[in-house]
Amino acid sequence: MSSDGARVANILLIPGDGVGPEVIREARRVLEWLCGNRGLKVRVGERNMGIGEYERTGSLMSDEAFADAMAADAILFGAFGGPGREKVPHEHILDRGLLGLRRHLDLFANLRPIKTLESLSDTSPMKPEVARGTDFVIVRELTSGVYYGEPRGIETLSDGSEKGTDTQAYTTGEIERIARVAFALAARRGGRVCSVDKANVMKSGVLWRRVVTRLATEEFPGIVLDHMYADNCAMQLIIRPTQFDVILTDNLFGDVLSDGAAAIVGSLGMLPSASLGPEGADGTRKALYEPVHGTAPDLTGKNAANPVGAILSLAMALRYSLGRPEDADLVEDAVDRTIAAGVRTQDIAGSTHTPVSTPEFGGAVLAELDRGIGKV
Ligand code: IPM
Ligand code: MG
Repeated sequence: MSSDGARVANILLIPGDGVGPEVIREARRVLEWLCGNRGLKVRVGERNMGIGEYERTGSLMSDEAFADAMAADAILFGAFGGPGREKVPHEHILDRGLLGLRRHLDLFANLRPIKTLESLSDTSPMKPEVARGTDFVIVRELTSGVYYGEPRGIETLSDGSEKGTDTQAYTTGEIERIARVAFALAARRGGRVCSVDKANVMKSGVLWRRVVTRLATEEFPGIVLDHMYADNCAMQLIIRPTQFDVILTDNLFGDVLSDGAAAIVGSLGMLPSASLGPEGADGTRKALYEPVHGTAPDLTGKNAANPVGAILSLAMALRYSLGRPEDADLVEDAVDRTIAAGVRTQDIAGSTHTPVSTPEFGGAVLAELDRGIGKV
């Protein structure tokens, strides 16, 4: 409890692997700035999980770290994977790795906002007139589908060759709950959902389409619903990304399409994400926030990674877990202004800017925050 009696939220930082520690350090500076200057009261803990932890201890995550993760109001996560991953048994990743956290916390709803910045139109690989005005959210189902389906494995056949199997499966309930998130989000945005599947070849896709269509009619008559095959969606993202408001899709298509969509913004380093659990009786939900970029082995240890994905993930935590939308706006505006002022990490520097280091970028965001507001 804080002195005014309000419950103090627990935020757990898990830097993880690769560039994770470098970008989470910058998000932590922003968090501390908010505590110091905006009256934000949170309890901040730090634990680790990942391949590095596995190499040191034989476990991806200690029991204490796992317990803290289960109890946290929000987790801010860096990155998972990279070299050494193949040494970790898959069952252990499904239990204690990122996939384990997602499943144990039931973080079924992954939101990945894709929004272009006018100041970055020069570094996007897309033509400015195509990318300009892009503003949509990918709502990706995160705890089912081929990532978790059984049976899975590699077996040896009688002729000595091998067979690898994964299973794509979705139940009505799993489709309904992620579709509700997408429809509710669209109702607060442009009122349009594009549901993406492969109903032309997959039975799980046929069911996906049927359930989403029924739910729209029964519960969200005000939303305009379209359906698109995943292969066509990959093309539409490139030729006309501004057509989308909310994209609703499964675990695997969401993974693939969100990396593709990142290119529209200019760099994977820019994208934040929120992974949310079901709403509890008290109105709160478990949540994990992480940049979409992953470990980036080529940049690791060079202080060159773009911390924007991590800092904007913190902004999403402020919005969805901490009830601080004004602070989220402040952080997002400060990042926008930093980039507009020409401060760029290597991935968004293009040929026109001299790249700054990860901490220099973080420092520039803090300077913009200082400039931007009066203290509470
Ligand atoms: C992502 C990542 C993860 C995924 C990996 C690290 C397991 O690519 O969050 O998009 O495939 O979900
Ligand atoms: Mg991915």
